[in-house]
Amino acid sequence: MSSNFTVACIDCGHKTPYTATSVSCPKCGGEWRETQYDFDKLKNSFVNLIKKRSFGLWRYKELLPVRSPGNELTLGEGGTPLIRAANLGMMLGLPNIYIKDERQGPTTSFKDRQAAVTIAALKEAGVTEAVIASTGNVAISYSAYSARAGIKLWAFITSLVPPVKMREVALYGTQVVKVTGNYDQAKQVAAQFAKKRGLYVDKGVRSITTVDSMKTIAFEIAEQLTNLLGPPGLLNTDSQPKAIWRTPDWYIQSVSGGLGPVGVLKGFSELQTMGLVEKIPSIANIQAEGCAPMVHAWKAGKEIADPIAVPKTHIATLATGDPGRTYTFLRQKMLSASGGTFESVTDEEAFKAMHILAKMEGISVEPATAVAFAGLIKMVRNGIIKPTDVIVINCTGHTVPVEQEVIGDNWAKDVEFPTPEIEASVPAEDGLLAALNRVTDDRYTRIAIVDDHPHVRQLIRRILQAQGEYELFEAEDGLSALKLTKENKPDLIILDLMMPEMDGFSVLDALRKDPNTASIPVIVVTAQELTSKEKERLQGQIQSLMQKGDFMSEELIEEVRALTK
Ligand SMILES: Cc1ncc(COP(=O)(O)O)c(C=O)c1O
Ligand SMILES: [Zn+2]
Repeated sequence: MSSNFTVACIDCGHKTPYTATSVSCPKCGGEWRETQYDFDKLKNSFVNLIKKRSFGLWRYKELLPVRSPGNELTLGEGGTPLIRAANLGMMLGLPNIYIKDERQGPTTSFKDRQAAVTIAALKEAGVTEAVIASTGNVAISYSAYSARAGIKLWAFITSLVPPVKMREVALYGTQVVKVTGNYDQAKQVAAQFAKKRGLYVDKGVRSITTVDSMKTIAFEIAEQLTNLLGPPGLLNTDSQPKAIWRTPDWYIQSVSGGLGPVGVLKGFSELQTMGLVEKIPSIANIQAEGCAPMVHAWKAGKEIADPIAVPKTHIATLATGDPGRTYTFLRQKMLSASGGTFESVTDEEAFKAMHILAKMEGISVEPATAVAFAGLIKMVRNGIIKPTDVIVINCTGHTVPVEQEVIGDNWAKDVEFPTPEIEASVPAEDGLLAALNRVTDDRYTRIAIVDDHPHVRQLIRRILQAQGEYELFEAEDGLSALKLTKENKPDLIILDLMMPEMDGFSVLDALRKDPNTASIPVIVVTAQELTSKEKERLQGQIQSLMQKGDFMSEELIEEVRALTK
């Protein structure tokens, strides 16, 4: 029960008790206010209080602005898993990438946290009708919780939002209002409508409940990382560890309005205030290049972001052209508390990241979420993220039915079931078999994968199998590689260099000496930095050299295709 907090105006400092329906500071009229909890009291009891509760959003109810949270509205929000991205990590050379899987919320996006807390607070305040503007996911999530709470919801949605999303909003009983225009315009129309009707309108990052709901992502990450990696180490030998929870080096999130990072940053700051964590992670805010007002401002060192009048991205979810004061607020917090950066990626980079994540990690995300993953890849390649860094990336939304532009053509094979006429003339099985034969080749390209690490072999196998049809052979050392090559005559060998007993160099020597194997193309994949002498030894012996941890699946597959044409 959170009675031990007040709401403070960030402009004049004036403090008031919390009322869900009051939207501005009574003294100066400012709309930017934040909760302040009684941390002196909480810091001694918080960990013991939460210990007994199940892992979910309401576990942290002392730090949420709902006075008496009950169970009636919950749909199981929060408590999402933190999943290690081992394959993506191997491909990027980062062993510690963790995915905070917000797809597993009740309506498959991180907006469920915001909706659960906001609707609970509105219900407590007796609100029965409310208005929101949305790029899709907020409307879906608020609609679900409003249905449970008996609140009539009006959702102003831009016409850019995929129709499947709009229809889901309508299914919940929300009145959808399609606004032909961009998201910023939809927000204006919603605000006018609410004013005229005297209704509560959700103000996104300027609402108390929305920001505080997102803090729970930070709380969960700190607990989960500590469970996975153990508590933070001693700072120096003679001091006891002060903090008991661990934080990542980086927290990465795709950003439109900017609520996510603002809330998560507040969450980590509150943990730091209570002495539970030592440091606040650097925040990486990733935007779609065609609508990246915050990135432009950050890179230009500006305090205020210039709005983008016409967003040029297919990713409607992220099309907030005017971030307003949120950017200024976030920038100032990052500069004073956490550090971090703003980065942008193209729609194409995001779509590529969707493929990698689905094919290599079994995680299907919507384009807006893929923007964060494409940002991660870019930051690793730019050297901003280091191989030793611990990364948590917010996986904020599940794929809506996969759109054509993401999947492209040729993703299915067609089988025509034999028609009655054909079936009459040939035995039924022949008809079916003949149809199926047209689907598969008799002989696939044969590739040998030689590596002493089983997880590397598995990674390469997966990269190949997810994107083509190959007959694959595996060898875990040099001698079996040679034996396998003689027996199976592969069209291509993917070879590791560092292997016990017979290394890759010796395998190459033997292959090239034997006329039967001399011309098989070889791609060397190695983890080591090669000396100039070693590079010389490979000259003329191999067709391609790839660094482990520095090849993304697509590059390897391109090499393979080029060499086996
Ligand atoms: C999947 C997804 N990613 C990112 C965002 C951006 O969130 P914010 O507007 O809080 O920056 C949203 C917002 O709806 C979203 O649904
Ligand atoms: Zn004020």
